[in-house]
Amino acid sequence: MFGKIVNYKKENSKLIINFEKKIGIIDVINPHVINIFSPLKYEKHFSRAIETLEYEECEINFQSFDTYLELSTNALIIKIYDDFKVDFYDSNKQLLCEDYRDEREPFIRRGDSYLFEQEGHKSEEVSSSHKIEIIKKMYNDEKFYGLGEKTGHLNKKGYEYTMWNTDDASPHVESHKTLYKSIPFFITLRKNTSFGIFFDNTFKTYFDMGKENSNYYYFGADDGNLDYYFIAGPEFNKVVSRYTSLTGTTPLPQMWTLGHQQSRYTYDSKERLLEIADNFREKDIPCDVLHLDIDYMDDFKVFTWDEKKFPSPKEITKELSNNGFKVVTIIDPGVKKARGYSMYDEGLKNGFFATDKDGVTYINKVWPGDSAFPDFSDTLVRDWWADKQKLMIDSGVSGIWNDMNEPASFNGPLPDDVQFKNDGRPTDHREVHNVYGHLMSKATFNGIKKYTAKRPFVITRACYAGSQKYSTAWTGDNQSSWEHLRMAVPMLLNLGISGMAFVGTDVGGFISDCTPELLSRWVQIGCFSPLFRNHSAVVTRDQEPWSFDDTTSNIYRKYVKLRYKLIPYLYDLMKECESNGLPAMRPLVLHYTDDKNVHELNDEFLFGESILVAPILEQGKNFRAVYLPDGYWIDYWTGEIIKGQNHILKKAELDTCPIYIKKGSIIPNYPELNYIGEKEVDTLTLDIYPGNGNYTHYQDDGSSYNYKNGEFNLYKFTMTKNEDTIIKIEIPHKNYEEFYMNFKIKINDKNTNNILFNGEILSYDKTASGIEFIIPAVEGQIKF
Ligand code: GLC
Repeated sequence: MFGKIVNYKKENSKLIINFEKKIGIIDVINPHVINIFSPLKYEKHFSRAIETLEYEECEINFQSFDTYLELSTNALIIKIYDDFKVDFYDSNKQLLCEDYRDEREPFIRRGDSYLFEQEGHKSEEVSSSHKIEIIKKMYNDEKFYGLGEKTGHLNKKGYEYTMWNTDDASPHVESHKTLYKSIPFFITLRKNTSFGIFFDNTFKTYFDMGKENSNYYYFGADDGNLDYYFIAGPEFNKVVSRYTSLTGTTPLPQMWTLGHQQSRYTYDSKERLLEIADNFREKDIPCDVLHLDIDYMDDFKVFTWDEKKFPSPKEITKELSNNGFKVVTIIDPGVKKARGYSMYDEGLKNGFFATDKDGVTYINKVWPGDSAFPDFSDTLVRDWWADKQKLMIDSGVSGIWNDMNEPASFNGPLPDDVQFKNDGRPTDHREVHNVYGHLMSKATFNGIKKYTAKRPFVITRACYAGSQKYSTAWTGDNQSSWEHLRMAVPMLLNLGISGMAFVGTDVGGFISDCTPELLSRWVQIGCFSPLFRNHSAVVTRDQEPWSFDDTTSNIYRKYVKLRYKLIPYLYDLMKECESNGLPAMRPLVLHYTDDKNVHELNDEFLFGESILVAPILEQGKNFRAVYLPDGYWIDYWTGEIIKGQNHILKKAELDTCPIYIKKGSIIPNYPELNYIGEKEVDTLTLDIYPGNGNYTHYQDDGSSYNYKNGEFNLYKFTMTKNEDTIIKIEIPHKNYEEFYMNFKIKINDKNTNNILFNGEILSYDKTASGIEFIIPAVEGQIKF
């Protein structure tokens, strides 16, 4: 495709190579991140994922040899050969990633598919070659992670996927190649060394992770530029951090968005909505957010209210707010084609909708019937849409849920030739499809930010790489089935390491009827998912926590209360995520990369570094094998201390989700709350598991951007265990006025006595797991 190297020039961070047929550019973004580029369609990058490509000044060495050119940084050596074959080595000259030198060689699919298809089966497709195709040598021990929202296992080796945002109403199974999100990023792991590849191409892209031939894996695209980033580790977590520093991290959300949320397709009247709210309070199940699905709208017209069902929306949201609830409303992209409806009229007048190739507004059918599709690829349209958010905010709405933005439609998919303005670079649907939801979320985020000055809460179904900057996401229309509960774990974990850290599934499942047992087990994962929302479809049985029986309500309540207890810990994790991109919900491989036992662990996860969760994912099961990695782990329910690098068998009746705390952990807890902000938390509880460890707790107003101006507090705890255990308390940053008054210290060790705080003996209470006492929230030292 490229031919031989003809000549080259070095220009700052770039090596520009003229091959016989095309140009190839290697660009050193920083010592660990290298961009491989060829302007096959456009002269320059035009990224929807990376807002500004930030370079780091670094030493770059260049040498030319007979058969190749070589660039090196202090972390990587890159060798470039004829035909733009590129190999990456680490600084010790160990080969990390090698372009495959032969042609693809798919296996043979024998036989005639005619009769097979007559029976109704769908034949496997023979993967054709793609306009752009990068083939990499695959090693036997190589594993693949990431790729955003895909079905199947944590390790993607041996599977193929397509990136084409798809609203697929069939039950999502392992063989699905597409779902709602397209995140063309993966991480490979081999011999404890990781690197990532981000293929920044918004056209339909293809990823074959060694399915068609075990000698190689490849990624390809239908069109666009050859534009990918090689992201070195070698540590797994560094790859995630480097990828998110390219595409953006999840910004710190408002604290209430981490609360429990209830939704239903559909709460279709004010009375029902208020009844749901009252039930939460009466039944003592904490909840912060109620969602309104499409039926709150007048005739499904976006940015309107059906005032018969929801008279005076402002009063309704006010009433709910007095009871501690926020309201989030769904907004779909389709604008009803109806003269006299201001959204349609304005859009039409200003040319804000996508058109057919003759420039006529393109119409397809969604909830409101015939609808036009805003051209979110155009800044003017995004600004218009951003301004419309004010209509919802003025009604007292606190967040926006963007759905159907793949874009989905009822009369078949949007044709390839639907036209978009694409910020001055007109193009067709093929290029915009995968970023349509991403750009809609960006507009929504910008609008909410502008009109509230608070951290926006947006939920989206469709995503592209980098959507985490603007929105949270849920995994679309799952089923109330055990398969989907099992699938939720690897799916959320892979989304998290693909940058989308603020994610969750519909707790209980969306389609079909949930069972009491399934809901009881689902909430045990839901309470650890950053986005924690129960949602179910129209005409399915009720799925609110109290809809089954007392046992189910009690279990549900127990885990929602656990979630609220852990809110300050989760908020700390979200703060960490804003700075380093690491998700709260993590696969074990992220921290225990050297441990082969965790490379394929599909049914356990870490919630931050301190908490390991091993949920029960099968009907009727009340025990399971749990793998605990290196270190000592404390059974959260029994206090038993267990040595890691060990498989154990854990008995777990329906009300028990196996949870383990790493020895040496300090976990901040809140007191019982019905909703975030219900009362001022002036005493922070510290749940302490004696050992060596440290923890920094972050505190701010939980909603505004004032923290960016330094209005926050940091409390640093350093615990060292020798003969005595010493916890040093420091307050390295103190600039938010609502400072804690006290710390309530809970020591999970029954043998503890003789507590000294700053040299003075303290009295304490004995508890089931150890002791507890209160100290003022000041710097000092606890000794026991
Ligand atoms: C889609 C969404 C679902 C929503 C429904 C109605 O199916 O994925 O969450 O309830 O549309 O708006």
